[in-house]
Amino acid sequence: MSNPTRRPIRRIAICTGGGDAPGLNAVIRATVSAAANRGWECVGIRDGFNGILQPERYPKGGVVHLTRDQVRGIAHLGGTILGTTNKGDPLHFPVKMADGTVVETDRSHEILAYFEREGIDALVSVGGDGSLTIANELHRKGLRVVGVPKTIDNDLDKTFTTFGFDTAVSFATECLDRLHSTAESHQRVMVVEVMGRYAGWIALHAGIAGGAHAILIPEIAYDLDKVITKIHERDAEGRMYTLVVVAEGAQPRHGHREVLAPAEIGHAERLGGIGEHIAKELGERTGKDARVVVLGHLLRGGSPTSFDRLAALRFGTAAVRALEEGLSGIMVALAFPNVNYVSLEEVAGRMKAVPPDSDTLQTGRDLGVCFGD
Ligand code: F6P
Repeated sequence: MSNPTRRPIRRIAICTGGGDAPGLNAVIRATVSAAANRGWECVGIRDGFNGILQPERYPKGGVVHLTRDQVRGIAHLGGTILGTTNKGDPLHFPVKMADGTVVETDRSHEILAYFEREGIDALVSVGGDGSLTIANELHRKGLRVVGVPKTIDNDLDKTFTTFGFDTAVSFATECLDRLHSTAESHQRVMVVEVMGRYAGWIALHAGIAGGAHAILIPEIAYDLDKVITKIHERDAEGRMYTLVVVAEGAQPRHGHREVLAPAEIGHAERLGGIGEHIAKELGERTGKDARVVVLGHLLRGGSPTSFDRLAALRFGTAAVRALEEGLSGIMVALAFPNVNYVSLEEVAGRMKAVPPDSDTLQTGRDLGVCFGD
C-alpha cells in the first residue's frame, strides 16, 4: 500500500466519476483545502477523465486549477463542479471508427503520460465501484491514487457507508411520509420506485424509515402473490391503503428485471419500469386503485445531509493525509466512527448487497413488512 521512496507531493489532481451524488462538492472542497494547507497545488479533471482524453470538448480547459477561492461555499451544493460521466472509462474508452462502429480502447497510458508531463504527483479519484476499479488499475500501472467512496446506492464494500446514501434515503423517506396521507385518503396502493440497480439499500432503509408495508429489493426475488396477501390483510384490518417500495433492480421469482436500455460500450444497462409494471398488476389483481411514483434521479439531487456532508469532508481531507503518508492504491473508508484506509484491491469489482442476515431486514420483518418472499 505504501511507497515512501517516491518524490514528495507538490501537485495533485482530483476527478469525480460515475453517477453524481450529494457530497461530491464537499469532497472537492476538502481535498483542495487540505492540499493547499500543505502547500500543494490542486487541479480538477473535467467529467471523469474526459478532460484529459477529449480536451477539444473543453474551450476553457479540460483540466482546471482549483484554488481555495474556487471551492469556497460549495460544500452544501449538490452535483459536482467538475462534472462527471459514466461513459468515460479510460480502460474501455468508446472510440468511434471511420466505418461508424464503436470500439472499446484502452487509453489509460494517456492518463499516465499526462500526469508525468504536467508534473502531477497523485490522483484523488471520487467514485463508485466503476471509478474505483479504474483507480485501482491506474494504481497498478504506476499512478499514485487514493479513492473516495461515493454512491447513493451504498453498494461499495469495505466502508460502513458511502456519501450520498443518507441524502437519498432521507429524501425517499420524506416522499413516503407525504404519500401515506394521499394513499390513505384515496384508499390506494401506491408503488414507489427508487434507484438501486443490484442492491436494495435505498429501498430497504427508506422503506423501513418511511413505514412502507412492502419492500422489494434485488437481493430477494419477489412473489407478487405475497404482496397481494399483504394488501388483503391490511384491507381486512380496515387499513385500506398500502405503500410498496421497489428498487429498480428488483425481480420476480419467475421473471426478469425491467431493462430500459441494454448495456453498451462504456455504459452499464439502464433499468426502470418495474414500478409501473407492479402497480399495473397489483391494480388488476386486487381491484384497487394503484399509482406509481418514480423517484429516479431526484434521489441524486439536492443538498447533502449533514451526515453526508461531514462524511465527504472527512473523506476528502483523509485522502490528502493518506497521500502525505505515502500511501497509494487505497480507498478512504468509514469504519464507524472512524475513517480508515482499505486497499483498492479489496474494493474493486466487489458489490455490497444487503446480506440476508441484515438486522435492518430483520427489523422490517419484525415490523410486519412484506419482502415478497
Ligand atoms: O448512481 C447509481 C445509480 O443511481 C443507479 O442506482 C442507477 O441505476 C443509475 O445510477 C442510473 O444512472 P444514469 O444516470 O446513467 O441513468
